[in-house]
Amino acid sequence: MDSMNNSPNSTENDFDTFLDVIQRIGLSIDDYPSLHELIILCSKSKSIKKIDHLTFICPPEDREKFMSYWLDRGFSLHGIWKTERYPADHIALVHGQTPDYPWSDMVGLTVGSSHANSENRPLSLSVHPGAGNQLQHIAFNVNVNANFDALYQEMSNKWGLRFMTPVLSYHDDNGASLHQCFTRPVGSFFIEFIQRLPNRMGEPYGGFDPDIIDDLYEALDEHISIISLPPEVRVA
Ligand SMILES: [Fe+2]
Repeated sequence: MDSMNNSPNSTENDFDTFLDVIQRIGLSIDDYPSLHELIILCSKSKSIKKIDHLTFICPPEDREKFMSYWLDRGFSLHGIWKTERYPADHIALVHGQTPDYPWSDMVGLTVGSSHANSENRPLSLSVHPGAGNQLQHIAFNVNVNANFDALYQEMSNKWGLRFMTPVLSYHDDNGASLHQCFTRPVGSFFIEFIQRLPNRMGEPYGGFDPDIIDDLYEALDEHISIISLPPEVRVA
């Protein structure tokens, strides 16, 4: 990351907004030194104003423990998406809401399915049995009025981010769209950028697309390394 956008709109409050979510989820930014620099870049960007979600991974036998932990803390189940090419369940739980967004905090869990006929190799390589719930990725929300392709180029060329996917897109039948891209992993930890464009009724797209998730895991399969393991963060 070699340069910064010195937007006159940037404030310390923007940085704290990102930090507050991370702390509410129970993580310490000190465990992710490179994340601190990225949050500074995001807080100075007019295109990124909040964290969309944080996703964890765990062994299948810890699934119910994870769910109980967040349900006990007031989160509710938002949805479950199942992938086929890279079999797994992708679960989202949400808490709170803001005036212009249907949730304030979202945590995700990606967990292998005991009924799968084939292995999800990148997920299996990422999960460390006995390590508790590991943070797999943090997703930054891209404003609806931002040009995602231009932001992708800026993040690649000016921020120095290296992506493992291009911009992946999904469009639903009601006119809503989802755009996502993912950085190359460090160990098995990576960063996501996500833009949720509203449907004809003005409602932001709140879901995920299994095809995009499978495309992510295909890219992860090519890039994941078991040599450099990420910090393991136990929150449950
Ligand atoms: Fe995500």
